Amino acid sequence: MRILCFPKYRFSKILGMFQIVLGVLVVIVSVSSLLRFYSAGFFMHNEDICKQFYGVQDVYEGFDVVSLSSRVNEVLDKMLTLQEKLESTVQGLEKNKDLSKGNVSMLEYKKFIEEEVIQPLYSAHITLRQIRLPRVENGTTSEDPLINTFVTEEIKKYITPKENRVGKKNIYGSEKIYNTIGHGCVSMKEQLQTYMDYDIGSFCKDDWNVAQNLMIKGCDPLPRRRCLTRASKLYQKPYPINESLWRIPDGRNVRWSNYLCRNFECLSSKNPKRGYSKCTGCFEMEKEKLKWVTNTSLPTDFLIKDALGVKPGEIRIGLDFGIGTGTFAARMREHNVTIVTTALNLGAPFNEMIALRGLIPLYVTLNQRLPFFDNTMDLIHTTGFMDGWIDLQLMDFILFDWDRILRPGGLLWIDRFFCNRKDLDDYMYMFLQFRYKKHKWAISPKSKDEVFLSALLEKPPRSL
Ligand SMILES: *[C@@H]1O[C@H](CO)[C@@H](O)[C@H](O)[C@H]1NC(C)=O
Ligand SMILES: *[C@@H]1O[C@H](CO)[C@@H](O)[C@H](O)[C@H]1NC(C)=O
Ligand SMILES: *[C@@H]1O[C@H](CO)[C@@H](O)[C@H](O)[C@H]1NC(C)=O
Ligand SMILES: *[C@@H]1O[C@H](CO)[C@@H](O)[C@H](O)[C@H]1NC(C)=O
Ligand SMILES: *[C@@H]1O[C@H](CO)[C@@H](O)[C@H](O)[C@H]1NC(C)=O
Repeated sequence: MRILCFPKYRFSKILGMFQIVLGVLVVIVSVSSLLRFYSAGFFMHNEDICKQFYGVQDVYEGFDVVSLSSRVNEVLDKMLTLQEKLESTVQGLEKNKDLSKGNVSMLEYKKFIEEEVIQPLYSAHITLRQIRLPRVENGTTSEDPLINTFVTEEIKKYITPKENRVGKKNIYGSEKIYNTIGHGCVSMKEQLQTYMDYDIGSFCKDDWNVAQNLMIKGCDPLPRRRCLTRASKLYQKPYPINESLWRIPDGRNVRWSNYLCRNFECLSSKNPKRGYSKCTGCFEMEKEKLKWVTNTSLPTDFLIKDALGVKPGEIRIGLDFGIGTGTFAARMREHNVTIVTTALNLGAPFNEMIALRGLIPLYVTLNQRLPFFDNTMDLIHTTGFMDGWIDLQLMDFILFDWDRILRPGGLLWIDRFFCNRKDLDDYMYMFLQFRYKKHKWAISPKSKDEVFLSALLEKPPRSL
């Protein structure tokens, strides 16, 4: 019985779908004919309008672009759901055992739906997507469409290009200065407007954590602000450099209100509520003092002495890309090497700590191109930040950026990179794709499933 009923049931369902398809196609045809008129300039009597795509008015002599645009979107959505429905119907047919027994009519159904419905629908879908509609905006015509995305006046002021006062070119050879913000700011409009809500010249809120959250989520660079940053109540002068490198700084020099801890002692690895998880123990100087100078049991732990020995006297400046309190930079300083240390305040005052030690923190996220020129750095050291969690394509972009800033003959020191054993080949390929000279290369087990990889690689000359 069921076998007999089944095709009938399907058939009526498919007929129902055809009706929807036809309905949609009617809409498409009517929209596309409207568009043809539109692109033929039928509705445009004013040539200027054609030129100025960003500033298209919402209504052209009775032609409502806004509603056209929303209608097209509606059609696109409808078609997408319909396509999905049809595809799942075909999958259902495929699963049906009758099909394999050779019920010709069912096979024909399937073929018919695939060839006569899904394929045309798909190509119509694509065609519709390729139609370029002018950008539709509210309000005033402007040069930069982003400006009117924001309501807060201070954001608009910031991102409006500033013309030079004398009307000539400036030292950059440009007529204007363009302040930039990350495009991610658009999707975080509310938070950015909160961040930019202040009285000019007054004290800012103590909201670096809001700023950092914006940066991490792609609103990077952030706009500058015209309010005064708060400092801690009693800022003590930092310790002299012969002491500051290896001494926990004075806790009064940090504003603690946005951390779980209220002083440096609380950041100890023994405290389960310390508020950060990476580089556990890096606020304890006894532990930090051992790093990169004492032999460990792991072959993946290289010593600074050995790394610098590869290029004696040649390594003078570099970047430490990781999460930490600047210990690598402190050690390198003792070898007269200047290291800039990247830092984000992820649950603890990493930037403040590095700076109070007398070292340079570089406040950057993973999102941005590094602020160094091509072929300039002698060394890039990385530890504790990029591990097996990182997306391979993202990592590829980052590694190519590192390659860009590293000078020929410069060293890339990958220090205790860890990942799942099964992913090791993928990551090894990523590091080896640049064909750097291998000075050191070691892999050691971290746990049952995870491994450490350390490498000291030298960028070859690229004289092209
Ligand atoms: C094949 O499909 C027809 C309807 O076209 C149906 O009557 C028949 O029962 C099906 N055959 C089998 C073996 O299911
Ligand atoms: C555009 O106008 C609509 C209503 O007229 C409003 O809801 C929306 O917020 C406006 N968008 C912008 C970017 O001003
Ligand atoms: C650091 O240097 C200052 C003078 O520059 C000296 O008075 C002080 O004793 C030194 N501290 C240590 C720990 O060496
Ligand atoms: C580390 O071990 C090597 C030999 O494996 C030895 O030559 C070196 O002196 C040791 N360094 C330290 C600081 O113990
Ligand atoms: C660093 O530079 C100082 C002064 O130029 C020098 O006295 C010292 O020996 C150097 N240290 C190393 C490890 O090269």
